[in-house]
Amino acid sequence: MLSRLGLLAALTCSLSAAASAGCASDPAPTAARPNWQADIKPIVDAHCNDCHTKGGIAPFELGSREQVVAMKASILSDLHGKRMPPFAADPKVRQYRFDDSLTPAQVALFEKWFANGATAGTLAQAGPAIVLERPTLSKVDFKFKMPNVYKPAKAPDDYRCLVVDWPYTTDKYVTGFGVTPGNAKIAHHAIIFSIPPSDADQIDKFDKDDPGEGYECYGAPFPAKANIQMAFVGEWAPGTQGVDYPKGTGIKVTPGTRLVLQMHYNTAADPGGSDQTEISMALADSVEREAWFLPWFNMAWFFDSTTMKVTAGDAKAEQEFEAVPHGSQVATLTLSGADLSAGFLVHAVLPHMHTRGRTIDLTALPAVGAPDILIRILNWDFNWQRLYFLAQPAKVHQGDKVRVRCQWDNSAANQPIVDGKKLPPKELHWGEGTYDEMCLAFMYITIK
Ligand code: HEC
Repeated sequence: MLSRLGLLAALTCSLSAAASAGCASDPAPTAARPNWQADIKPIVDAHCNDCHTKGGIAPFELGSREQVVAMKASILSDLHGKRMPPFAADPKVRQYRFDDSLTPAQVALFEKWFANGATAGTLAQAGPAIVLERPTLSKVDFKFKMPNVYKPAKAPDDYRCLVVDWPYTTDKYVTGFGVTPGNAKIAHHAIIFSIPPSDADQIDKFDKDDPGEGYECYGAPFPAKANIQMAFVGEWAPGTQGVDYPKGTGIKVTPGTRLVLQMHYNTAADPGGSDQTEISMALADSVEREAWFLPWFNMAWFFDSTTMKVTAGDAKAEQEFEAVPHGSQVATLTLSGADLSAGFLVHAVLPHMHTRGRTIDLTALPAVGAPDILIRILNWDFNWQRLYFLAQPAKVHQGDKVRVRCQWDNSAANQPIVDGKKLPPKELHWGEGTYDEMCLAFMYITIK
């Protein structure tokens, strides 16, 4: 038996192109004996090396077989835990664009390859390149960099709003959005709000009354009780990449609008650090379908934070909110001019929780028929928050409810580390601080 196998290997070897040096130890790859060149490198190149490359956002490179072998243990654990690549939307409920996660078969290949000594293979055996669609901001028409370096004045959380000079004298549509954080250790979110011209003077007053650059602001870019209309133009949180909004859609910005960049800093990882973030936008003069970001959460949580309770020590604390979007308080506040009475289309979703978050789902609940899960994340990671593009837009019909549901692990084992110490578990509420909690999902919607 053994000799027959040996013969087979020799035969394969002599047949393989040019029978390159080292052939005896590099039999042709099979599903049972994957090698680096044929099987693993194409996966790593496509699924890892956007980030794990020189100058990429990941802290180490995975360019060579040796670099991958050196990380064996944590690669296997991350692949099994579905932490890497960082695409958290559950593929069982629906498909998304830009899904770069590995299939179970690809994970199995990695396992076999490591288990069989992580063989190199030969260049002649190199497998075909895998081509994946990547999120990209395809052009930049407008850029805004914070005029000065900002050093957070408050610790651990500091919120600063900066009024963006919007130079255009005709209507524009924002068709893509990206953020380059100046200091990723302290930048915890960036949001661009738009305030209509009718309310612009109130924003200018906040700016003028607060000494220094910009003004302090929590949640909304104005105090909760101010009667100001606002809309969302773009959001960034750790892990979000610059991206074009779905083709033919864009968010309208009229002349005289005040755009406000809200920066949330959390200084725990870099006390004394400072930041100068830059935002980029793609613009168009017209679009086929106007779009809006509809944030979905219970406004009661916002007005009285204690109504969203996450019990101390509870490893499975849950909260949910469901309502019909048309006529809801949050839609009225954030969707100037959008009429949702006939339903709407959801193109993309950006779920948001903080550090104890564990699972989140956003689901359309039709009056008749099965619930339609727009997104479900089963292993929430605060460091990876993205705008997930549905492969096919989902229709929320007239009268359908939408539900957001969150689960937190607020047990002693799952507490953030601040100043080298794990925080003790305590009851958490809705709040803007990184160590408070939130439960919401932004929907990128069009009416038709
Ligand atoms: C979108 C960018 C991106 C992609 C794609 C990506 N990574 Fe990462 N990876 C990161 C960043 C950033 C970190 C460090 C922060 C973190 O751990 O979340 C990281 C961390 C890791 C870690 C270390 C975790 C630890 O325990 O320290 C491993 C292992 C890893 N990646 C493996 C992979 C593999 C294997 C792939 C491809 C199959 C991959 N990554 C794809 C960005 C990425």
